[in-house]
Amino acid sequence: SLSRSTNVVWQNTDVTREIRAEQKGQKPLTLWFTGLSGSGKSTLANELEKRLVAMGKHTMLLDGDNVRHGLNKDLGFTEEGRIENIRRIAEVSRLMNDAGLITITSFISPYKKDREKAKEIIGEAFIEIFVSTSLEECEKRDVKGLYKKARAGEIPEFTGISSPYEQPDNPDIQIDSEKYSIEEATDFLMKQLQQHID
Ligand code: PPS
Repeated sequence: SLSRSTNVVWQNTDVTREIRAEQKGQKPLTLWFTGLSGSGKSTLANELEKRLVAMGKHTMLLDGDNVRHGLNKDLGFTEEGRIENIRRIAEVSRLMNDAGLITITSFISPYKKDREKAKEIIGEAFIEIFVSTSLEECEKRDVKGLYKKARAGEIPEFTGISSPYEQPDNPDIQIDSEKYSIEEATDFLMKQLQQHID
């Protein structure tokens, strides 16, 4: 079984996080999207990355569905699985920031405590973006047909139906995708982020 490592000592490197970031001409950030399944997280994260790349920024997008096919394919959707999912994503985001990148993450990240932990791991680079699309709207859209299955009892522990989603009390940015087109929403996000991006 997997066990904890002991006798491991942190090694400092000569090329630092600051040097890597400076070479890329940007401030590393983690733009942490949170919201229900179908809220529009991935769409907005994708649009935002396109805008940043068009500005010449160096980015990396981590998306729930994709990461769960690789790095986190050993994890399910129990509370324990989600906690570990978010912990690993936070650590990877931190590494990407160490590499000088602007990381964009798109995970439900339903637990407040885990998002707080992510913030602790990532530090001041962490920016929480709450996509506050209502459950009613997400269920109406039901892009992947998962809400229908969850209502039918075919998916256990489905977020918003049979598993909790804890809303952020004080997100850095909040966007309700119901009220705006994708382009308007992306414009809004870019405007909100302007103060953080140099
Ligand atoms: S979490 O809660 O942050 O660990 O979830 P995440 O890694 O973002 O994965 C969410 C996507 O997985 C699909 N899916 C489920 N979501 C919620 N609950 C259950 N039980 C579940 N089973 C599968 C779903 O397609 C989510 O995709 P998004 O992009 O969020 O709609």
